[in-house]
Amino acid sequence: MNGLLLDEAPVQTAGETCSLDHYLVQPDETMDARIAAAREKLGAEAIVLGHHYQRDEVIRFADFTGDSYKLSKAAAETNARYMVFCGVHFMAETADVLAQPWQQVILPDLNAGCSMADMAEIGQVEDCWESLERQGVTAGKGILPLTYMNSAANIKAFCGERGGLVCTSSNSQGAFEWAFARAEKILFLPDQHLGRNTAFAMGIPLSEMVVWDPYQINGGVTPDRLRAAKVILWKGHCSVHQRFLPEHVDRVRREEPGMQVVVHPECRWEVCQKADAMGSTERIIELIEKAPEGASFAVGTEIHLVNRLAKRFAPLGKRVITLDESGCLCTTMYRISPQHLAWTLENLVERRVVNRIKVNTEEKHWAHVALDRMLEIKR
Ligand code: 13P
Ligand code: SF4
Repeated sequence: MNGLLLDEAPVQTAGETCSLDHYLVQPDETMDARIAAAREKLGAEAIVLGHHYQRDEVIRFADFTGDSYKLSKAAAETNARYMVFCGVHFMAETADVLAQPWQQVILPDLNAGCSMADMAEIGQVEDCWESLERQGVTAGKGILPLTYMNSAANIKAFCGERGGLVCTSSNSQGAFEWAFARAEKILFLPDQHLGRNTAFAMGIPLSEMVVWDPYQINGGVTPDRLRAAKVILWKGHCSVHQRFLPEHVDRVRREEPGMQVVVHPECRWEVCQKADAMGSTERIIELIEKAPEGASFAVGTEIHLVNRLAKRFAPLGKRVITLDESGCLCTTMYRISPQHLAWTLENLVERRVVNRIKVNTEEKHWAHVALDRMLEIKR
C-alpha cells in the first residue's frame, strides 16, 4: 500500500450510519434499496466506477464499468466531486492521480489490494535500477522503465521520472512501441506474463527476454544475458490468472470442438500460445459481443466476469464457460461488498468521506506524467 495517505480528516463520527460493523452483519439483499437511495441523493456529485471483476451485487450500481484503461479515462474525464472506486487499490490511486484537486476518490474497502502490484516494491525497483546503472545498461539510449497499471503509484512515478510510462493490458503493445522508439531495452514491471506475451506478439524471441528476480543478487541475471536482452521482465504475476494451465486449453480442445479459447494476457505464455485470442477484459467482452449466434467460448479470466458473460449471452445463443472448471476468483476484488458500498455512499450523503485514497504530491506529479504518456499512445 505504498504511497497511500488516508484522508487526513475523514470527519468520521460515532453513530449508526458511520459504523461499518453495523453494515457487515446485514444480508446482501437489504443493501440494494439503501445503495439506490444514497445514489439518488448524491446525484451527479458522486460516480461509482466498477471493474469487470466486481460481483453482480456491486457492479449493478456502477455508473461506469470497464477495464483498467477505460476506468482510468472515465476517472480523468468525470466532473463528479466523489469517485467511489469499486475495484482494487492501484485503480483508486490511479483515479486520484488523474483527478482534479477538488475531487476525492474512495475505495469502499481498504483491504482490496492486488497481490501482483505488491510484488514490486519501490525499494526493490530502485535496487534493480541501481544494478542496471552499475552495469552500464541505463547509459545513453539504454533502457526505459514501463509499468503495468497494476502497480503502486510510487512505481508509476518511478517510471514517469525516468522517461517511461504506464500501460494496461489493452495498450501494452502501443506502450512497448513507444518505449522502443526511444530506448533499446525495456524494464517491464511487475507482470512477467503480460510483458512476455506482449513482447513475443511483437516478434521478440524468448531468448531476448530475461526475468529479474528481486530476491536474487543482480536479479539472478548474468551480465551476458542482460546485455543480450531487449526486455527485462520483473518476476511478478497475477495469482488468479496464473492458475490457468495449458492442459485446461487441451481439455477444451478435446471435449468442446469448435469452442474458442479466449484468455487475459496475465495468463502464462504457454496458455496464451494455445489460445485463439487474448485481450483485456474489455476486449474479451467485445469479442463475444461481435461473435455470431451459436459461437462458444472458454474464457480464461476472473470468474465473476465469466459468469456474467455466460448469463448475458445465453439468451443470444452464445455459450460462455470458464477455462478452468474450478473457477478463478480474485479475492481482493471480492472484498468490495454491497455492505461496503452502502456504508461509503450513506456516509457521503452525511458529508463524511470514508476510505479516501490520496497519493502524495511528489508521487502524483511523476505518476501523472507516466499516465499521460499512456493516455496519448494508440490503443
Ligand atoms: P483489465 O481490466 O485492464 O483487463 O485488467 C485486469 C486486471 O487484472 C485488473 O486487475
Ligand atoms: Fe491483481 Fe490479479 Fe486480482 Fe487483477 S485479478 S486485481 S492482477 S490479483
